[in-house]
Amino acid sequence: MTKITIPATNISFDVGEGDTIARAAARAGLGFPYECNVGECGNCRFELLEGEISYLRENPPAVNDRDVQRKRYLGCQALPHGECQIKVPLRDHYKSKFIPLRTKGKLVEIIEVTHDIREFRFALENPVGFLAGQYGLISVPGVNGARAYSMCNVTSTGEQWHFQIKRVPNGKATTGLFDTLKVGDSVGLDGPYGMAYLREDAPRDILCLAGGSGLSPMISISRAAAASGSLNGQQIHFIYGGRAPRDICGEQMLKELNGFGARIHYHPAISMPDDPSDAGWAGHTGFVHDIAEKIFGDKLANMEIYFAGPPPMAQAVMKMLIKAKVPATQMHFDQFY
Ligand SMILES: Cc1cc2nc3c(=O)[nH]c(=O)nc-3n(C[C@H](O)[C@H](O)[C@H](O)COP(=O)(O)OP(=O)(O)OC[C@H]3O[C@@H](n4cnc5c(N)ncnc54)[C@H](O)[C@@H]3O)c2cc1C
Ligand code: FES
Repeated sequence: MTKITIPATNISFDVGEGDTIARAAARAGLGFPYECNVGECGNCRFELLEGEISYLRENPPAVNDRDVQRKRYLGCQALPHGECQIKVPLRDHYKSKFIPLRTKGKLVEIIEVTHDIREFRFALENPVGFLAGQYGLISVPGVNGARAYSMCNVTSTGEQWHFQIKRVPNGKATTGLFDTLKVGDSVGLDGPYGMAYLREDAPRDILCLAGGSGLSPMISISRAAAASGSLNGQQIHFIYGGRAPRDICGEQMLKELNGFGARIHYHPAISMPDDPSDAGWAGHTGFVHDIAEKIFGDKLANMEIYFAGPPPMAQAVMKMLIKAKVPATQMHFDQFY
């Protein structure tokens, strides 16, 4: 255990062996800022006042020259060597309802979703619940560094965490998950994390936008919204985008929910309809942000909007929502670095 102190607030917390400063702060119930947890976004920056730090991930992409000059580090990757004093603005917004836990997950089932998306179901050694839309960190055996994956199921006890994962060609973690991991094998799990969770107290209709790998958290949010008594009257719209018809999925999962067709609506979209086999395509054609703008237009400003997917998709959606004058408090998203 190593002690970290934030002198401006007189707050101290312990960091366990191999843990990072931001994750240990979350385990201590503190609102340490973060977003991706993998060294890509830079939201977890803090200033080192005293002490010594190394990085979990070598040369994390979000570190720049100014950070080095100003002794600023990334909390999600920072490993303290002995006691440290740091400066960071804590915010309640980042506090987690379920305190993140480091545990193991045993793979109990694999389900094929599309040609390159599979659902991996893990039973947790030490169960922990999560909010719909949150993510966990999976450490795949033999792969350096944990990867973030969003859960697709809904649970308050957290006996099992289910992840819908898209294979990345030559990707290290996804190759390990798809080609090596077998039912009965275990991975390291850490979580839950993330702020893009379902707001059950929001009175507005819900729009979920998912591109490719963004399926999982949007399915979790739709499942939780459909089951929530406090959201009974609201409409739930789900736009899922892929390149071609063979990428399109999610409708069957939504059909299993109470209210499909009446208050739950599915809008599939493909972005590259130039293959002759796409000729019978009956859904939308275009990118998810364009489809959302086309279908909902002025109504967007009065919707609660959740989105997930690769950074170019998330940035295009955000730009469109800002143009549509959607208040920032109604946008909830994760970029899948
Ligand atoms: C918040 C969040 C939620 C996500 N949810 C999902 C999801 O539900 N489904 C899904 O399919 N994908 C999801 N992703 C993307 C996923 O985490 C991986 O980026 C993707 O699976 C590719 O991993 P790979 O190792 O196969 O590919 P690689 O090309 O080998 O690695 C790509 C990514 O892994 C990360 N990385 C690389 N090295 C390290 C390291 N040493 N330590 C830590 N990170 C490293 C980087 O972010 C990099 O962009 C999510 C990402 C984030 C940030
Ligand atoms: S949360 Fe640390 S870089 Fe994104």
